[in-house]
Amino acid sequence: MTAQLIDGNALSKQLRTEVATRAQALKAQGVKPGLAVVLVGDNPASQVYVRNKVKACEDSGLHSVLEKYEATMTEADLLARVEALNNDPAIHGILVQLPLPAHIDAQKVIEAISPAKDVDGFHIASAGALMTGMPGFWPCTPYGCMKMLDSIGYDLRGKHAVVIGRSNIVGKPMALMLLQKDATVTVAHSRTQNLKALTLQADVIVAAVGKRNVLTADMVKPGAVVLDVGMNRNDEGKLCGDVDFDGVKEVAGYITPVPGGVGPMTITMLLVNTLEAAERASK
Ligand code: GUN
Repeated sequence: MTAQLIDGNALSKQLRTEVATRAQALKAQGVKPGLAVVLVGDNPASQVYVRNKVKACEDSGLHSVLEKYEATMTEADLLARVEALNNDPAIHGILVQLPLPAHIDAQKVIEAISPAKDVDGFHIASAGALMTGMPGFWPCTPYGCMKMLDSIGYDLRGKHAVVIGRSNIVGKPMALMLLQKDATVTVAHSRTQNLKALTLQADVIVAAVGKRNVLTADMVKPGAVVLDVGMNRNDEGKLCGDVDFDGVKEVAGYITPVPGGVGPMTITMLLVNTLEAAERASK
């Protein structure tokens, strides 16, 4: 293996210690940072995710409430719950776990969250703030990727970054964050022709499509930094990313593993955003 690992667990531990220290300082002023996590229905993956988010809050000294509702909950009732949380001074961040049941308009629910409490960074106001470089909340997964680049002291100025994937949650905000750090950014997606020609020019590659082996060793310039946002299962049922890790680690300069890479960083950045929301509210 020639690539150095960027360890998401180790970096998360360090950042979560910082969160705990800042949370302690807020508590000394009488403010306990609070996150509300709302889960509608019984999607098994969502149940695991929300449990992990609530546990992470507790471990870092943040207050959290988990509100669970039946899949039959009406959109009007959910909107009313969001409004109540918007007005609850003990809650600084609101996260409505996605996906929502089909009869609920997820975008409408996200837009009902106060932008000041939008710690997921999914509100259109948060997206606009990121696009224009104004203060707001950044979506947790691409924000975590930026922290990983920071952790290796990587200077993005003038570098070519290729983002594979164009989702609102990862690909698009990732491209904007890289651009804000003066990278030259290419966004590739399922309709991109000759992806390999693009990735071979890349100094940084972020793979975020949710498909195994989207990036293989022959597609990577020696020494490139490879961040793997994918969460898939291989034929043996083992967790794997979008990158052919075994092959690419022999070519890349840095690489994130799956598991233990970007995954833990997503929850860490949720804690950071929640703390930030509480700090802004207490100013
Ligand atoms: N479902 C899968 N990932 C996420 C996330 O980061 N936030 C929310 N709200 N729902 C999700």
